[in-house]
Amino acid sequence: MISYFNGQFLQQKDIAISPNDRGFLMGDGVYEVIRSYHGHLFELDAHIERLCDGAKALQFNFSTFNELKDIAGQLILKNKLAQQDATVYIQVTRGVAKRSHKFPPSDTPLTIYASVKKFTPSHITNGISATLYPDARWERCNIKSINLIVNSMAHQYAIDSGTQEAIFIRNGYLTEGAHTNVLMVKNKTIMTPPATNFILDGITRKVVLSICHIHNIPVKECSIAEKELFDADELMIVGTTVEILSVIMLNNQPINDGKPGPFTIKLQRLFHDIIKRQ
Ligand code: PDD
Repeated sequence: MISYFNGQFLQQKDIAISPNDRGFLMGDGVYEVIRSYHGHLFELDAHIERLCDGAKALQFNFSTFNELKDIAGQLILKNKLAQQDATVYIQVTRGVAKRSHKFPPSDTPLTIYASVKKFTPSHITNGISATLYPDARWERCNIKSINLIVNSMAHQYAIDSGTQEAIFIRNGYLTEGAHTNVLMVKNKTIMTPPATNFILDGITRKVVLSICHIHNIPVKECSIAEKELFDADELMIVGTTVEILSVIMLNNQPINDGKPGPFTIKLQRLFHDIIKRQ
């Protein structure tokens, strides 16, 4: 596969990351995963904007990442993935510098890496199982940091428990999934935690909430206690890779009748209509 690294398109095997890269040494970086549907990069501007917001929050020295939009498109073409589904991965780190807790000099170039891979959708229609996991992450979860160790531990725990996603609980309340946002349906209202610093402001979440707005489906962004999840009419996870998936079992307990509910099915249909129209 051809990838992008600091201004060049190279075969992945020809890319060498410095051991002094702050991404490698300190996890000092941000990333994005963008879905390409038959060559169309879904919500590309929103992903690049979020990358910029994260880089600004970390005080990276940059003016724009707009060139990454073109690079993402070129990666799809160069790897002949325009007729298929794919994901583009973009990572920006603070660059190569002598290891120190203080930031390197402001003229240190950022390390910019992007790659693409073919994506095979799961085609799950009958829902998934999920497992609750304590949210031991930092308090800046709105930054899409490359530090994914707690997300990774949570996801592995979910898999080891025979389920497909971990759902984080912080101080007794829902935050989000290990790689998804979580929405619940109760009394014909979509409920989801507000986009604070405790969750990633997911792009799929935003698209889903705008669908609700257009179709007059009531939405309430509010705190959701752990025990309320078990009493949900419907539960779903949303994200770039999973799109919208019904959660039918949580910690081995069925949600409602243990089948995907009408709101989830309707949102899946409306979401796919948007994708088809692109
Ligand atoms: N994850 N919350 C977390 C913690 C995530 O890592 C993600 C995405 C989401 C959903 O955000 P979006 O709808 O913008 O993809 C929510 C990506 C896909 C990943 O790490 O692979």
